[in-house]
Order: sequence, then structure tokens, then C-alpha cells
Amino acid sequence: MCGITGYTGKMEALPFIMQGLEKLEYRGYDSAGVTLVDDKKMFICKESGRLSALSTKLSGQHHPQTCGVGHTRWATHGIPSQLNSHPHSNQAKTICLVHNGIIENYLSLKQELLKKDYHFRSQTDTEIIVHLLDDQYYHEGLNMFDALKKVLPRLSGSFALCIVTKDEPDTIYVAKKESPMILGRNSSGCFCASDAPALLPYTKKIMPLKDNEIAILRKDSIEVFGFDGSEKTQEWIDAPYDIKAAQRDGYDSFMLKEIYEQPRAIKETLRGRLTEDDVVVDELDELDLDWKDLKRVYFVACGTAYHACLSAAMQMQHLTSLNVYCFPASEFRYGEPYLDKKCLCIFVSQSGETADTIAAVKLAVQAKARTIGIVNVLGSSMSRMTDICLYTCAGPEISVASTKAYTTQLVLLNCLVLAICKRIDGSKADRKMIAELKNLPDLIRDVLKYDEQIKKLAKLLSDKNDVYFIGRQHDYPVALEGSLKLKEISYIHADAYYAGELKHGPIALIEKDTVVIAVATEAKIAAKTISNIQETLARGSKVILLTSDQIETEGFEHVIRLKTISQALMPVEIIIILQLFAYHTAVMKGCDIDKPRNLAKSVTVE
Ligand code: G6P
Repeated sequence: MCGITGYTGKMEALPFIMQGLEKLEYRGYDSAGVTLVDDKKMFICKESGRLSALSTKLSGQHHPQTCGVGHTRWATHGIPSQLNSHPHSNQAKTICLVHNGIIENYLSLKQELLKKDYHFRSQTDTEIIVHLLDDQYYHEGLNMFDALKKVLPRLSGSFALCIVTKDEPDTIYVAKKESPMILGRNSSGCFCASDAPALLPYTKKIMPLKDNEIAILRKDSIEVFGFDGSEKTQEWIDAPYDIKAAQRDGYDSFMLKEIYEQPRAIKETLRGRLTEDDVVVDELDELDLDWKDLKRVYFVACGTAYHACLSAAMQMQHLTSLNVYCFPASEFRYGEPYLDKKCLCIFVSQSGETADTIAAVKLAVQAKARTIGIVNVLGSSMSRMTDICLYTCAGPEISVASTKAYTTQLVLLNCLVLAICKRIDGSKADRKMIAELKNLPDLIRDVLKYDEQIKKLAKLLSDKNDVYFIGRQHDYPVALEGSLKLKEISYIHADAYYAGELKHGPIALIEKDTVVIAVATEAKIAAKTISNIQETLARGSKVILLTSDQIETEGFEHVIRLKTISQALMPVEIIIILQLFAYHTAVMKGCDIDKPRNLAKSVTVE
């Protein structure tokens, strides 16, 4: 969702701002804009559509200003257009700001401002902020810092804000509540951006701003305060990865690069988590929880992370007698779940910034449930809200279609489930599964060798309007994830069903040449799924069967056989194939792999 970059220092600001916005393109957007400031005037340039349209507009111009902010907007309030795109300024064009997030009470604040004769040019929720600041600055006579302290507590919802003013042309005011904002600095000046990849070509010294903090960036200093004006300590860290990790590195898309990074990402995630015969999740000891008293476990997440949770919940249901539930965060938060201190809530998020998941965490924290976060981004909002946080070490995931985040979530959740079960009933992890976990990176390297074969098979899908995925038990959540990948990037309508449910309705959709991707890897129930496949074949479908090497099948034209491992880990192998199917199909259809329409990488709105 919206991306923000800002710089003040000795260099010209525009090159940093533009390259940073490019690095943030993965977040999803439909218009872009910049403001550059000096003591004479504010230069504002905006364009709807791609960032390249803004670059074209700016090309051939020289902008020596050394302070400015940039923005890519993912439309929420008001259509994608030049008027609605950021930066937004006050009438006099002396205060200018960019915003990521949503101001939920903007309508009542707008009414108030209309009564004071403020005029609105856009349909956005953002524009009220600049007028509120204008009111405090010019009518109440406050300086910008004091104006912010007055205005920010009045805004409900989420925001990351950068504000520049003509009166202080080398200063950027930054504020954050529930939307990400990272600060950076080097000998040339001070930076801010929605995510670290935008900063990495310039600096590795970064500091995630915390919720309810204001930072004041000047040419050679950064100060951080609470919304109440109290000074805050600064926690600078070295970015946990280098610039290469956030580049395509010769691959034609980030998605393909990230598919191929999975062996390494899994290895990193499992580092220190496995002994000869056990899993190590010592963080669990920090939870104030009597394991014998534990009554319920909730797994909660959105999108791909939710699919990883479905697999983990199934594994836990098989291993314990606990009540185990799995919810998309958007349902959990409004579903009045029964929560108390005997509940354990496990929240999973690549970004650690997804609005629905964050709201779900808050609900659990308020109800005094014990909370665990599984997060990929260090210092993200969610990582600070849960009682304990375990990190997937996937490195930056840039592709909107999530790949390595999913497989690293699967393996970390697997370790977590085993470690929790041990604490509940003393059961030791299965030695066979430990050995399989250790071998997963090599196994995935082998699965990646199917790439060429899948490229050929993808021709079966590329001219289709609909594709159906089926599976049972552990093969089902991964079928869901495979269908999500396909629809996200190829725009082919794809649905996943429990194989046994097919005959209760969906089979009505099967006709000649309909493609069915069937996942049947579990020996004891594969025959059942294969019967369901036969039912579709009898109606003319084309079937691609993903199975395991211990299952005998006959008469299938398109079969991919994967090495048999514990059922709870099979999704890690299967999804590599399904990711590659989605990728090759989308390439064949000429789709923009890394910028799928309407999607955002980090969904910071409800
Ligand atoms: C968006 C992305 C998905 C992602 C989901 C949850 O919808 O497009 O790829 O799975 O958000 O994101 P999170 O960062 O919480 O894992």
C-alpha cells in the first residue's frame, strides 16, 4: 500500500526520492507524486498511473532542492487521479504532506474545517490533515511541532505522515501510528521511507519509528518525541540484509527470484531451531502461561499467511486434544472469539503491518490472551505488540505474490507446533520429522528442477478462464494457496475445493477441457481423491496430478511425483510446483508478475 520516501541533507533530494519510490513499487499503487522545498517555494508534481509517468513528467528538469518527500498512492478514498494523489498542500502551498493509512474520522473533521471556510480539492481522507495543521499553525499561532501534538491525537485510524513546510525548508516532520515508517541517516543527511529497501542504497543504519512517535529530520540531526512531546530514546540498528537482497539480481521478476531463494530462506529460518532430535523454541519460556491450563489455541492471519496457519492448525489438531481454531484476521476481529488468559493466539504476518492482523492482535492483548507473533520484518508493528515474536528469516519479500514468506512460515509454524505440544504433554518431536526439516532446503532444490516441465504444462492453463484445485486434509490448504497464486498474478479464476466436496456442487462447473489440478500426496486417502479426479475426467476435464512417490497411479497423462515426507511438511514441496505453475502461466499471458493489478503487498487498511 502507499509508499513514502523523504530526504533532507546536502545532496539533491529528488534522486533519492524517486529511486526509493521505485523500490517501494511492490507495495502496490496507482498514482505518484513528489514535493521539493526550498525557502522560495514548494515544487509539487503528481501523476496518476505508474511511477514512470511521473519520471517522464520530471525528465529534463533540474531540481537542486535538498529536501523533499515522495509518495505512491494506493487509492482508498477517491479514485486514482492527479487531484487525489499526494502530496496534499494547504491553500497557500506552504505546508505539504504525504500520508499512508486511513483517517477513519475524516468526515467529522472535514465538517469542522468546512465551517472554518477551508476548501477541499480532493476526495481523500488525507487532505483534512493538512488543513488541520494549517489551522493550528496560522490561526492558533503554533509552531509545526506543537501543531502536530494538537492534531495527531485527534486522528483516528492509521497514519505514517511526512510534512514539509516553506518556513523550515530543510526539515521533515514525520509521524507514525500503525503504518510503517523507517528512518535512516548517513554523512550526507537524513532519510525516511515506508520500508528499508528504499534506504539501502544510501544507508544501512536504520531505525523503525514506533507508534505514536514524531521524528524531526533536519540536515544533520534526527530527534524523536512522543505525541505528548516527551523525548524518546533512539534505537538504531543495522539493516538485517543488504541491497543485493532487495534487487532482482538477474531474474526477470522478484517473484521468480524469491521462488528460487526458498532453500536458503528455509535454511536461515531453521538456523538454531533444530537439535539432533528436537526443536528449539526457547522463546516460549518467556510466555506467562501455565501450559497444563491452556484451553484454546487460535491461529490468525490474512491471505497467504492464513493458508500457512490452516496447515499448522491441522497439524496441531492431529497432535493434541486442545481446541484449535484458525481464522482470517478480518473474521477473528469481528467474530467475538472467546479469549482469556488460558488462550494462546498465534498471529502470522510477513510484513507485520497488515491492518486486520494488527487489530486482531490488539483484541487478543486486551482480553489478556497470550500472544505469539510470527513475522518476517524486524521491528514491524506486530513484532512489538505480541508477548513473543519469532522471526521467519526470508529476507525482504518484494513480490506481491508471496512465496518464500509462505514456506518459511510453514516451517517455523511446524517447529512452534511441535514445541507447544511438547510443553503440553511432554511429547518429543518425531526424529523423522526433524531429519526431514533439516533436509528441506536440499529437497526444495530438487523440486525446483521441475521448472522446465512446469513451463511446458503451464500451456494447458494459459488460455483458460477457470482452473480448479482439489485436495484433502493437508493437501487442501496448499491447494488454496496454489489457487490464490494463480489468480493473483495470471487473473485466471481459480478455486480450491476439498476433493470430497466436489460432487456437492462444484462438479457442475466441470466441462470438456476444464483444468483440474489435483493434489493427492497422502497414501491413506489418495485413492479417495483419485476417485474424485476420475469423476472430473469422466466429464472431460484435463487433470494435472501432484502426488507422492509412494502412491501408485495409472493412466494419468500429466503427473508430478514428489518425494514422500511427513504429511505436515508436504505443503512445502507441493507449493513450489504450484508457485511455478502460477508464474509460468502469468508469463505466458503477458501479465506484469511483480505488479499485479489492484493488489498491494502490505495491506494497511481494513
Ligand atoms: C496481502 C498480500 C498477500 C499477503 C497478505 C497478508 O494481501 O498481497 O500476499 O499474504 O497481504 O500479508 P502479511 O504481510 O500480513 O503476511
